[in-house]
Formats: sequence, C-alpha cells, structure tokens
Amino acid sequence: MKIGIDKIGFYAPHIYLDMNQLAKSRGVEPEKFTIGIGQEKMAIAPITQDPVTLAANAALEILDEKDRKDIDFVIFGTESGIDSSKSAAVYVHDLLGLNPNSRAIEIKQACYGATAGIQMAKGHIALNPESKVLVLGSDIARYGLNTPGEATQGAGAVALVISANPRIMELEEKSVYFTNDIMDFWRPVYSDKAFVDGKLSNEQYMAFFTEVWKQYKEKTGLGLKDFEAICFHLPYTKIGLKALRTVLEEGTEDVKDRLVENYTASTDYNRIVGNIYTGSLYLSLLSLLEQKEDLAEGSRIGMFSYGSGAVGEFFTGILQPDYKDNLRVENHNTLFSSRTEVTVSEYEDIFQETLPTDGSTVKLNIDEDPASICLAGMSDNKRNYVNKMK
Ligand code: HMG
Repeated sequence: MKIGIDKIGFYAPHIYLDMNQLAKSRGVEPEKFTIGIGQEKMAIAPITQDPVTLAANAALEILDEKDRKDIDFVIFGTESGIDSSKSAAVYVHDLLGLNPNSRAIEIKQACYGATAGIQMAKGHIALNPESKVLVLGSDIARYGLNTPGEATQGAGAVALVISANPRIMELEEKSVYFTNDIMDFWRPVYSDKAFVDGKLSNEQYMAFFTEVWKQYKEKTGLGLKDFEAICFHLPYTKIGLKALRTVLEEGTEDVKDRLVENYTASTDYNRIVGNIYTGSLYLSLLSLLEQKEDLAEGSRIGMFSYGSGAVGEFFTGILQPDYKDNLRVENHNTLFSSRTEVTVSEYEDIFQETLPTDGSTVKLNIDEDPASICLAGMSDNKRNYVNKMK
C-alpha cells in the first residue's frame, strides 16, 4: 500500500520585513543577508498570530468535509508551543471542526518535530488504511533583536494530510535517522527566545547530513543520480546549498546541474519567509513542487530533516501522477503578493509586544489581521481563538 502526502497547505502572516532594511539598520552590508545568508524577506507574526493560529490557517486552506471526517489523528510538531501541558493540536482540532473520534498530540524535537509526526502518521495509516492524519509544523523563530540569529528568524506553518494512495507524494519505506546529544540550539522553558551556538549549529547540520547521506547510500544502494531533487531543512537558504555542494562531486555534470537548479527552486518560498523551524523542510518541498514546472511524475525527491539538539533524518518520496493538480500555486502567489512590508522600527515594536502572564484580560484587534483564524485575546490565563469563517 502506498502511504504519503495527499495535500500540502501553507500559511505565513500578512506582514514581512525586507532584509536590506534590517541590514541597513544593523550596520551590516545587505549582501551579508541576501547572499551570505540567502534571505530576502522575513515573515513577522503579529500578536494576533501564534503557532496555533498559523497551523490552523495552513490547514484551513486544504481540508474539505471528507477530510474533516476521515482525519482521526492530529500531530502538531512545534518548538514554540504555547502550553507545557495541553497540546496545540487540540486547539486546532476544535478550530477546524474535526471528527471528535480523533487523537491529538504535540511532538517536540526542535525543527525535526513534523518529520517525527510524518513517520508516526505512516505507521498509523499502515494500521488504519481508511483514516487520514493531519500533520502540522508551525513555529515562530525568535532569537532576539540585534543578535546574530536575528536575520534567520521567520514565522509560518505547513499542514500535511498523510493518507493511503496519496495524490502528491508516496513516502518510501527506507530512511536513515541519527541522534546525538549536542548543545547547538536550545530554548529553556523560562525563555521566549532561543539560545544558539551559531558556528556549532552550522557544523552539526553538515555533520548530520554527511552521516545520514552516507548511511542512506549504504542501506539502499541508491546514489545522487537517482534523485531529481534534494530538499533540505532551511534555517536560511545558503545552508542547504552548502550541504548539497558537499555531495555534488558524486554526480555527473548533468546530475549536478539538475540538483543545483532544483535546489534553487526549492528555496524560493523559504527565501521570502525565513526559518519556520518545523515547517521549513516542507515549505522547501512545496516551493520545489510549485516553482519547478517540469518535474516528472515518478521522480524521487530526497529530504534532509534536521532538528537541533540534535536529530537528523534522510528520507525520500516519489511524485505521483497528476501531483500538480493537487497543489495550490495561485493561493500562495496571492498570499505572498498581498503581504505588507513593515519598517524595522515597526518590526521591533511587534517583536516586543507580549501577552499578559498574570491572568488579566486583553482584547486584541483582529480587524487588521486578514487571517481567517486569529488570536482574539486572553483572559484567566486562557487564549481566546476566533475562526472568522464560523
Ligand atoms: P553570523 O555569524 O553573523 O554570520 O551569523 P557569518 O559571519 O558567518 O556570515 C554569514 C555568511 O555571510 C558567511 O558566509 C559570510 O562570508 C557571508 P559563509 O562563509 O558561511 O559561506 N558574508 C557575506 N556575503 C556576501 N557579502 C557580504 C558578506 N558578509 C558576510 N558583504 C549564523 C550566521 C547562521 C551563525 C546566525 O545567523 C545564527 O546563529 N543563526 C541561527 C542558527 C542557525 O540558523 N543555524 C543553522 C543550523 S542549525 C538548524 O538548522 C536548526 C535550527 O533551525 C533550529 C532547530 O532545529 O530548531 C536553527
């Protein structure tokens, strides 16, 4: 039985910061951000969007009534969760009106969470071929104002429906995964910003890719020529290119050209959104599928998932016939073209806005947020979400 990705939804907030403006304000050459890091725009989450609403908006794009009945498992990968106890999946389950006979959980392992969710979903579908699983990867990446990590922030979510007989991509069985306890990036429960050893994190990303790629080749007998494209977890777009370059010598000139060209297409969306942690790899996959016109059905796509701390995995998928008919390119073009640019000073104000932590009541202005699902306020330490379409 084929199991894999049946639908992909995406959502990013309606405001962004231009990296040239950020560079100017921080006194660095714009090319450091646009070429050295490889980012053009950074999505900014207004206070009316949090990981729950971002994920719910991403899923809203793709779910129909049948999905709402068939989905019986919601798996929410995030590292910017809003509660240490209740899962973000339960809120999304309610906001989307899903079948009450469902499981709903949250998974955490840095940017690897959604990949863990997908692998768990595959097991669930193998045992329950009639059901569908909604896997969400949703995050707001925050390092702090004036920090080295600032240029690699972002906000957004990807929603994936995993099912039998998927219409977009069959996920192949063989995959390689690797864990090692390292302190490259972490966020203690008392902090709303991540701590990071930037140099170590880059080194470990590369080391994990080298390891899983080597093991994958040994396990499967496949090599670079067997891939139409390789997508990477993209904290910033330059890093995936550096990882890809470490293996390009294994291919002929044709293979190299193909992989580099397809890599570029796989970074278009990430370049104008920024790091969305758990969703980044899947945003890159979406970018590849929607921005590359001529990927043939049956093509094999490699995927490198990396979650600091750290866990890495290399796995693969096969494009299904008519996968293009199941994408939503127009929606995403509209989403990007209707965003509004904010100034650095507006971004700094938004960054510093906080919700009450003393149980007091706050009502937020959701009229300025075009998203269907918003955070409308807080009272008694509870978040109040609104689905404007209900
Ligand atoms: P930095 O140290 O300020 O930057 O921050 P840099 O000095 O290393 O420069 C970056 C690149 O720009 C360099 O290129 C420079 O040469 C180049 P490289 O040598 O590396 O190829 N550069 C220029 N290029 C053109 N024109 C110029 C110019 N000036 C400089 N004028 C760093 C970079 C990524 C460390 C920082 O942004 C950071 O700490 N980010 C957060 C951590 C991160 O993203 N790590 C990535 C791997 S870990 C990961 O992926 C997991 C993660 O997503 C979290 C999770 O799993 O949950 C982060």
